[in-house]
Amino acid sequence: MRQSRLFHALIAISCALAFTVSSHAFAADGQPIVIKFSHVVANDTPKGEGAQLLQKMVKERLGDKVKIEVYPNSSLYDDTKGLNALLTGDVQLLAPSMAKLGQYSKSVQLFDLPFLFDDLDAVTRFEQGDGGQKILQSMEGHNILGLAYWHNGMRQFTANQPLVVPRDARGLKLRVEPSNVLAAQVNELHAIPRKMAFGEVYQGMQTGVVDGQAGNTWSNIYSQKWNEVQSDMTESNSGVLDYMLITNAKFWNSLPDDVRSELDDIIAEVTKTVNDKAGELNEQAKQQIIDAGGTEIHELDADQVKEWREAMTPVIEQFSDEIGPDLIKAAQQSNKS
Ligand code: LMR
Repeated sequence: MRQSRLFHALIAISCALAFTVSSHAFAADGQPIVIKFSHVVANDTPKGEGAQLLQKMVKERLGDKVKIEVYPNSSLYDDTKGLNALLTGDVQLLAPSMAKLGQYSKSVQLFDLPFLFDDLDAVTRFEQGDGGQKILQSMEGHNILGLAYWHNGMRQFTANQPLVVPRDARGLKLRVEPSNVLAAQVNELHAIPRKMAFGEVYQGMQTGVVDGQAGNTWSNIYSQKWNEVQSDMTESNSGVLDYMLITNAKFWNSLPDDVRSELDDIIAEVTKTVNDKAGELNEQAKQQIIDAGGTEIHELDADQVKEWREAMTPVIEQFSDEIGPDLIKAAQQSNKS
């Protein structure tokens, strides 16, 4: 009796192993390995374009071995479900905004701090340095491997009333990504943070569940048509919205060496293209919002920027121990080229 239970257990384990191996690394039947890449934004955004370029280059260079399937616009999963699916092996690639990753790594929250980076060039310098590379590896204990950083852009506030100085935001319900750091910034403004999935924001704005949002990029604002449901935008540049391209570490390590190495090369090339082009795509989207009319964009003068900084940056001190003071210092130093 005991022997037969042991026998069945062994059979079950070998079946599970065979399934894992065949569904992950090896295309034993001659079919390419399928890599599902799920994300939540439109195709004509930095991440959307990056995902499509990755798919195209993999087809050209590894077409008989690997096939990338891209699922944009939350068509497969929203970010939260996508992260669970990555861990269970139902998708293999994601590029969430780092504001979605705080549950797996304290240090990654650095990217959500207000007014930390002056511009995308400073972000690039930090990401390529030791601090950035350390954060890329900070989720391996959760079986999540960081492959690259992809830029989107700087965060801009929107609402249905002008937000020119911080007190204008008092009492407003503002959508934030699921990040404690972003929520804390909204609290500093005496406004009410509402964590909400990206795909639900348009409707939330339309129905008044939120009055606005506390920082997103021009490319996301325009491609999600938030300009249809928000009368005012503030060029606040109050933080950065950047992505980490991530995979399931066990899956990645189970790939044949030659395939993994070619994928690494392709990812490096795609990353360069995405990061070189992100600024331009956001400028274009800002212009498209202006051309569409119906929305006022408020540019801030130096005194107004100073007020926003003073109102929001106490959050840096608040999260300093969790994130690591040395990492924060390295990020601040990246502003000086
Ligand atoms: C958001 O939820 O606002 C962003 O993280 C969406 C994205 O992927 O750019």
